[in-house]
Amino acid sequence: EPAALNILVTGGAGFIGSNFVHYLIDETEHRVTVLDKLTYAGNLASLEGLPAERFTFVKGDIADAELVDSLFAEHDAVVHYAAESHNDNSLDEPRPFLDTNIVGTYTLLEAARRHGIRFHHISTDEVYGDLELDDPARFTEQTPYNPSSPYSSTKAGSDLLVRAWVRSFGVQATISNCSNNYGPYQHVEKFIPRQITNVLRGQRPKLYGRGENVRDWIHADDHSSAVLTILEHGRIGETYLIGADGEQNNRDVVEAILTGLGQPTDAYDLVADRPGHDLRYAIDSTKLRTELGWTPRYADFAAGLADTIAWYRDHEDWWAPQKDATEARYRAQGQ
Ligand code: NAD
Ligand code: DAU
Repeated sequence: EPAALNILVTGGAGFIGSNFVHYLIDETEHRVTVLDKLTYAGNLASLEGLPAERFTFVKGDIADAELVDSLFAEHDAVVHYAAESHNDNSLDEPRPFLDTNIVGTYTLLEAARRHGIRFHHISTDEVYGDLELDDPARFTEQTPYNPSSPYSSTKAGSDLLVRAWVRSFGVQATISNCSNNYGPYQHVEKFIPRQITNVLRGQRPKLYGRGENVRDWIHADDHSSAVLTILEHGRIGETYLIGADGEQNNRDVVEAILTGLGQPTDAYDLVADRPGHDLRYAIDSTKLRTELGWTPRYADFAAGLADTIAWYRDHEDWWAPQKDATEARYRAQGQ
């Protein structure tokens, strides 16, 4: 039985961070502290019901060096999820992406260096740019960085900071780059929850461009199990790609959502495309699977999507407060 650790999770009130906190509480004996600024994307309702003796919430900014320093002093490991995460927002107003993704990560790395603490950095496959639809290649740990958007370029910058702090200062860090996540607690601005909640409200799903873009979907629980595996067994200084062979084009996903909710498969609208829209992402996770023995539990996207549709149907109280403001923002952009 491994010893119970004190783990600090940044961004733990967001989508993937909150799923990871639930996963840690359910699957380990560790104690968890969440540091989260509660931006529009953070939601304390995603952390309800956790045992008080193993869970603490701290509201604050990862770019607040004094606060970060005091928290690092009391923890054994840090898993860094906090970020501005939405591409469409980054096209509208890039500045918060620089402040949080770059300066925030820098602030954490400086504290990690001072405290010699184990640090895991959460990143994205978007740092690699995009692939053609018919390209047999997938992203690997060797693929050159080529980010397209303000969001992905700030994530790429944060990854490079982590690598430099490992090499220059001996920070005990690992990095993971994961593909598109789906599952409970995802903000309704994101593709899958936006379309599910549109249909639940009697609105039509909105596909950007022609709906041909491909994303490589993974359930948030599988992301969590991969991160815990890397935290426990990953080699310091290494990068691991996380993916579950879940490539789907956006039109197929919308059709599956419509079918799952009993609507005709053509009941969607095509809307203005995202500027600079990446065509396709695809992850080769061979290194993580062979070196660390990880496998995803949700091999079947259809089953995971059905669970997710059911979750949004049953949790309107969780998403309804965000829905109108999110759709008003999209309407202003013609999307
Ligand atoms: P999210 O937007 O749902 O959550 C982000 C959380 O970070 C929110 O709770 C927010 O309040 C918090 N936060 C933002 N700025 C902060 C700051 N300055 N200080 C403290 N907290 C702050 O994002 P998500 O989709 O859960 O993504 C989490 C991480 O995973 C990000 O680093 C993202 O780049 C990465 N990632 C996401 C995906 C995906 O499909 N969503 C895939 C791969 C990697
Ligand atoms: O690949 C990992 C990344 O996945 C993460 O790093 C990001 O944080 C996360 O937001 C996600 O980025 P995407 O841009 O791929 O996700 P999004 O949900 O915004 O869009 C998914 C696809 O669906 C993309 O091709 C754009 C399209 N789309 C999106 C919305 C919101 C639509 O067609 N209609 C929509 O209404």
